[in-house]
Amino acid sequence: MAMIEVKNVTKSFQIQSFDESTKKYIKTKLTVLQDFSVDFDQQGVTVLIGPSGTGKSTLLRCINGLETIDEGDILVDGMSVRDKHKLKNIRLTCGMVFQQTVLFPHLNVMQNLTLGPRKLLGMSMAQATDKAKHLLNKVGLISKEKARHFELSGGEQQRIAIARALMMDPKALLLDEITSALDPEMTSEVLHILEDLAADGVCMIAVTHEMVFARHVARRIIFMDKGAVAVDADKDEFFTVHRKENERVASFLKFIGE
Ligand SMILES: Nc1ncnc2c1ncn2[C@@H]1O[C@H](COP(=O)(O)OP(=O)(O)OP(=O)(O)O)[C@@H](O)[C@H]1O
Ligand SMILES: [Mg+2]
Repeated sequence: MAMIEVKNVTKSFQIQSFDESTKKYIKTKLTVLQDFSVDFDQQGVTVLIGPSGTGKSTLLRCINGLETIDEGDILVDGMSVRDKHKLKNIRLTCGMVFQQTVLFPHLNVMQNLTLGPRKLLGMSMAQATDKAKHLLNKVGLISKEKARHFELSGGEQQRIAIARALMMDPKALLLDEITSALDPEMTSEVLHILEDLAADGVCMIAVTHEMVFARHVARRIIFMDKGAVAVDADKDEFFTVHRKENERVASFLKFIGE
C-alpha cells in the first residue's frame, strides 16, 4: 500500500459568473480534477509541475483534507480523507507549507514551534523545546528563537514554517510553491534546507517552478495538465525522453525558462 493513494478523485468548485444577457450572477461548476488517480510512496522528493490553474494546489489541499472531494477517495497511510475523525491524523501525517506562510503573529518563533506538539501530541514543554532547538539549528535559525514574525525575512519565515511542520514528525511534507514569493537569495536559502532534508530521507511532494531544484533533488516528476496526470516519470527520464518526445512538456519547460 502506498503512503498516499489518490483514487479516481473528482473535485469541482461552484463558481459564480456574471451573465451579460440576463444581467444576473449564475452558478457554474468548474471541474478541476476528473477521475484523478496517483500514488505516492514514502521515498524521496516528487516534484509536481504544470500550467497555472491545472489543479496542483487543489490536489495537495485535497490530500491534506483542506478541500472535500466529490468522487473517489484519498487514503493517507490507510486513512480516508472522507472520514472526518481521521482528519487530525491525516494532517499530522502530511505536514503542509504554503506559498505565504502565516506564523501565529502573537507568538515568537519558539512558541510557534512548540505549540502544535504540546497541544496535539501531548509533548512536554522541555521535550518540545529540545526538539525545536534541534530543528532551528537544522534550518540555520537558532539565533531567532525569540523573534516574532515581523522581525523575520520572508525566507526566514518559510524556514521556520518548515521547522514547524517537522515538529510533528510528519511522514511527508506537502510543499506548495513555498519559494515563489521570495527573492532569489532567499529562495536559494530555502531550497538548500529542502535539499538537506531530502538528503536526510524526508519524503516531500513539492509544487515548484524551481527546475534547478527539481533536477538536483527530485526522484520523480509529475507533469499535470488540465486536471490530469500528463506525465509521471523518473526525473532523468523526464528531462530527457519526455522533454524530447512530449510537445506539452517541451513547451511548458520553455515557457518557464528551463
Ligand atoms: N476555492 C476555490 N473556489 C473556486 N475555484 C477554485 C478554488 N480553488 C481553486 N479554484 C480553481 O480551480 C482551478 C485549479 O486551481 P489550483 O489552485 O489548484 O491550480 P494550480 O495548478 O495550483 O495553479 P497555479 O500554478 O496558478 O498555482 C483554477 O481554475 C482555480 O481558479
Ligand atoms: Mg497553485
